[in-house]
Amino acid sequence: MARFDVTDAVQALGPGESRAFNADGHEIALCRGDSGVFAVADLCTHAHAHLTDGFVLGDLIECPLHQAQYHLATGELVEGPECPALRTYSLVEQGGRWYVET
Ligand code: FES
Repeated sequence: MARFDVTDAVQALGPGESRAFNADGHEIALCRGDSGVFAVADLCTHAHAHLTDGFVLGDLIECPLHQAQYHLATGELVEGPECPALRTYSLVEQGGRWYVET
């Protein structure tokens, strides 16, 4: 497991915003949903659009291409074309800093 400091990116996230972060080849979407900050894969499992080009809606992220919606906490597909769940990443706060684990 590798750990990456994403403090600057997390602190820059406003409500309902997402930001891409490349963690040594893992394309990750950092998202501020209604329930807090989450880290999920940035590539949609349907046809690989970047979810950070889409929208954070409550605790969901919506793909800009065919509107698949995934739950930010679980990666579960909630709406849209049939496709696998989204990978989620562990995001931890420690000593005032934020880390994503791959
Ligand atoms: S590429 Fe995301 S729903 Fe089709």
